[in-house]
Amino acid sequence: ALSSGWRRYCAAAATPTGDAVGEFRRRIRVAEVKGGEDQGAAWVGKELTVRGWVRTCRAQRTVTFVEVNDGSCLSNMQCVLTPETEGYGQIDSINTGASVLVEGVVASSQGVKQKVELKVSKIIVIGESDPTSFPIQKKRASREFLRTVAHLRPRTNTFGAVARVRNALAYATHKFFQDSGFIWVSSPIITASDCEGAGEQFYVTTLLSNSAEGGCLVNSIPSKDGRVDWSQDFFCKPAFLTVSGQLNGETYASALSDIYTFGPTFRAENSNTSRHLAEFWMIEPELAFADLNDDMACASAYLQYVVKYILENCKEDMDFFDTWVEKGIIDRLNNVAEKNFVQMSYSDAIKLLIGSNKKFEFPVKWGLDLQSEHERYITEVAFGGSPVIIRDYPKEIKAFYMRQNDDGKTVAAMDLLVPRVGELIGGSQREERLDYLEARLDESNLNKDSYWWYLDLRRYGSVPHAGFGLGFERLVQFATGIDNIRDAIPFPRVPGSAEF
Ligand code: 4AD
Ligand code: MG
Repeated sequence: ALSSGWRRYCAAAATPTGDAVGEFRRRIRVAEVKGGEDQGAAWVGKELTVRGWVRTCRAQRTVTFVEVNDGSCLSNMQCVLTPETEGYGQIDSINTGASVLVEGVVASSQGVKQKVELKVSKIIVIGESDPTSFPIQKKRASREFLRTVAHLRPRTNTFGAVARVRNALAYATHKFFQDSGFIWVSSPIITASDCEGAGEQFYVTTLLSNSAEGGCLVNSIPSKDGRVDWSQDFFCKPAFLTVSGQLNGETYASALSDIYTFGPTFRAENSNTSRHLAEFWMIEPELAFADLNDDMACASAYLQYVVKYILENCKEDMDFFDTWVEKGIIDRLNNVAEKNFVQMSYSDAIKLLIGSNKKFEFPVKWGLDLQSEHERYITEVAFGGSPVIIRDYPKEIKAFYMRQNDDGKTVAAMDLLVPRVGELIGGSQREERLDYLEARLDESNLNKDSYWWYLDLRRYGSVPHAGFGLGFERLVQFATGIDNIRDAIPFPRVPGSAEF
């Protein structure tokens, strides 16, 4: 009775009218037409509308060929215009970079490059593009140049293909972990702790007020005894952009068993290399009731899964990389997907490097960290291009949270190395013993109090657990053959550059 009374009351009130939201209708993309085994043959005779951007326009005596790309795949739709085509009068506006709508009927193509083309009955120029100033003129502009026009570079074959493969790798990542029973957890981007203890964090602060004309006045920053007074800052203590979601991930693994994070991380390393970004994405699974062997097995299975996934689902783009970016990449990745990975201890790796008698720039000695040149020698030369896992590193060169081995000198760490990229994955079994962890924090001059919540995990129902972090852009490099990490992310952030 109550509810019907309520309804009556509602009905009595003025009912606002509005129009229904339309149904979401999936558009047919070029990939759907040309992407199948038959390359579009089944579409012959059917009507089709394509919306996209003009790659090239070639006018011949009686017909004009316009290559239109809608980003769904590498292939363009070859559109054939004749003077009878509606909208033919706009022919002078059909320039590289312009956006168009083309309607017509799919027909078999005489050309060798494609099975089908679109006989256009109607073309509409949606957005013009001035051919004299459109920045991507040359067919094969250098990647360095394209970084300066990062807002337009996804319109090139290479960056379109990288974007699609990157997307497929992200999808496959979620699929692998979801199918394996992992729960996705969002770790915070703003944090007060330094997971890696390397002091490579960006501050997050509101102390630098930007209200002053010409920028913040240095003497308006609150200070105490000559130092910045963080107690007056937004979070009442120093806060940073996270370098890793691991510590937060561990808390959820200590409740949900297997979790993973997949989000942006930030490092203020001033390294101008082809493998470092200031902002990169990291995938960090954390496995409860697991040791280093479980961790290595998970990392290998995951990497093989995503590699297989793109080989099966991104054929056209992978063929493109094989032809234009890294010859033989498909064979290389097939090997990765099929062969078991090998593992060896850090101590054995040092012996291998010393035994190689190769001249390295950086010294090789037990206790020193492996440099990129050493890592690449191990996977590229010693193991002939196969991924290799190095485990049990000296504890002095690794983070405080790694589990101490019984030898008292090494920790249960593992790095997965791959050709070209070097370190793709870094992981470890975590120190689950409270007394060991506290001792490690002391040794590392870290403040135990600020890790109170992390230590609580060892106080209440502690379990052996392990995890790893994979740098997503390094995975994109590895999977596409793109040699600079700045080309593996849409908008790279590196020292001296945060454009776009
Ligand atoms: O080896 P890292 O520093 O390990 C961690 O952050 C751990 N907390 C991971 C974990 O156990 N959950 O970083 C992991 C990976 C590296 O192997 C590398 O692939 C990538 O992150 N990485 C970078 N990628 C791009 N630019 C940088 N500056 C990177 N630093 C690390
Ligand atoms: Mg590392």
